[in-house]
Amino acid sequence: MSMRKAAASAPGKVILFGEHFVVYDKPAIVSAIHLRARVEAWIHNQPGVWVGNRRLLNHPASRAIEYVFEKTGYTSGVRLKISSDIPSSVGLGSSASISVASAGTASLITLGRIDKELVRIAASEGEKIVHFNPSGIDTSTALYGGGGLYTRSRGFTPIEIPLKKILIIDTGKTRRTGEMVKRVREFMEKNKERFNDILTREEELIGEVIDAFRGLDFEKLGRLMLENQNLLREVGVSSMEIEEAVKLALNAGAYGAKLTGAGGGGCVICLAEEDKIQEISKIISRRFKVYLTGLSAEGLREEEI
Ligand code: MEV
Repeated sequence: MSMRKAAASAPGKVILFGEHFVVYDKPAIVSAIHLRARVEAWIHNQPGVWVGNRRLLNHPASRAIEYVFEKTGYTSGVRLKISSDIPSSVGLGSSASISVASAGTASLITLGRIDKELVRIAASEGEKIVHFNPSGIDTSTALYGGGGLYTRSRGFTPIEIPLKKILIIDTGKTRRTGEMVKRVREFMEKNKERFNDILTREEELIGEVIDAFRGLDFEKLGRLMLENQNLLREVGVSSMEIEEAVKLALNAGAYGAKLTGAGGGGCVICLAEEDKIQEISKIISRRFKVYLTGLSAEGLREEEI
């Protein structure tokens, strides 16, 4: 049964290991975080997706919604209100969570329930507008929530991540994911053999991460984070600010740190002992904005409206 109004929210994400290489079908480890985007939608008498008096065109949210409308044969429009506590263009999956929450409200309005498979495909369509060749990791994480091992060909497999919180350092520089993905492709085209070796190592590294999760070996996880950061730097997606944030985190006593998401600016995640994390956060906050956020957050959910 269709609904006249609906609201849904979806979480942001941090990629703990494996961004960029996931585009080439290597595994990555990801977690939903406790920062969310919320979308409210009301049936509107004019076709299309509207925010106030403006028709939203060529936007991930409108594309995701229009996809749901096309598939369900809905011909009216919707008016939207989008709010989010996820900073945008810094690697935390802000646009994917908006796409997923938008598709979720469209599914509620047209079908009266959330059809997860429809939402997944609709949100991926939305993401194609802002990304270049998205692997689907951001939308899958916003949809399913929790922690996951993700590969492009096999999708999202839930896994237990033995970390309650993660310290996120925002370098303050925004960038476009699509451009960073293209940068890695250029590296690959110029350095085919080396790139293959990097992919092989990344895949082994993810296996070592899973073992370290099982053994709760945080020192090892920290070392693996730094190695992952070295590989990302080599393919050209680190930046001066990222390197500075990583050094600052290590000097403050973190086990490891690396960029998260597309890089080129954006955010760095930092792994530290639970009782040291507040102190480290305080030190880093003198230079960068920091977020201490919980992991394994709930995925897409219907909200009260
Ligand atoms: C962006 O959050 C993650 C990237 O690996 C791109 C993608 O997987 O679509 C950089």
